[in-house]
Amino acid sequence: MKYSRPLRILHIFLALTITYQLIVSLFMDSPRLHGGHTMTSGGGFLFASHEWVGLVAVGVLFIGWVYRFVNWKRENQARLFPWLSRAGAITLASEVMNFIKFRWKNVPENGALAGTIHGLGLLAATAMALTGGILFIQLYPANLITPSTHLMMELHSFFSTFMWAYLYGHGLMALWHEFIGDKALSKMFRLA
Ligand code: HEM
Ligand code: HEM
Repeated sequence: MKYSRPLRILHIFLALTITYQLIVSLFMDSPRLHGGHTMTSGGGFLFASHEWVGLVAVGVLFIGWVYRFVNWKRENQARLFPWLSRAGAITLASEVMNFIKFRWKNVPENGALAGTIHGLGLLAATAMALTGGILFIQLYPANLITPSTHLMMELHSFFSTFMWAYLYGHGLMALWHEFIGDKALSKMFRLA
């Protein structure tokens, strides 16, 4: 599928920041486990980078949502949420059935199923950014953990499971579509 240049540029920033966040979260120290002040210097540095790259992701998502709402019709954003209309939900159900039954030739590359998955990925990233953005404010300046900060971390961790699943599934699908000759990666990561 052909995406407009603004969507491709937004996607590059989104893919870089979100992938960085997921990977760095495996190695950083969390203020929750370290009572605020006792993080190791390496783990603390990685956490600081998680905070700042996270804020960049918040910005990228915010600009992305404004762009999508302003250009909703022109960029055909309804393709990301086909289940919002009755006709879209019916198409989605039939594509899911075809997918489960391995009739993959009948699942269109730009159809309701692909759109839904992309839409859910965008929602997962937005949930990470919202909870992360709130955590940034709550933790400033001393990384103090209150019950509401704790709750926000639980939510942030909860959504991260979906974000990981999306990164694996989406990344593998992208490689698959590159491999079978659709050139998905080269089209999506093209700058010009
Ligand atoms: C984890 C962060 C990521 C998110 C949230 C994300 C989200 C999206 C979204 C929403 C779309 C649909 C285009 C749009 O409407 O903007 C898309 C398309 C695409 N993404 Fe990602 N993406 C991520 C990471 C990646 C990575 C790491 C790769 C490369 C391995 C990748 C490869 C692609 C490709 C090839 C397409 C085009 C699919 C098509 O032909 O329809 N994405 N992505
Ligand atoms: C969209 C951007 C972000 C993504 C994708 C992301 C992703 C993640 C992931 C995957 C984890 C590990 C969760 C776990 O394994 O339980 C994590 C933990 C954490 N993140 Fe983020 N994050 C983002 C933004 C932020 C921001 C802006 C902050 C600001 C303070 C933040 C603060 C934290 C904290 C405090 C933890 C540790 C939570 C805990 O101990 O349970 N994140 N993040």
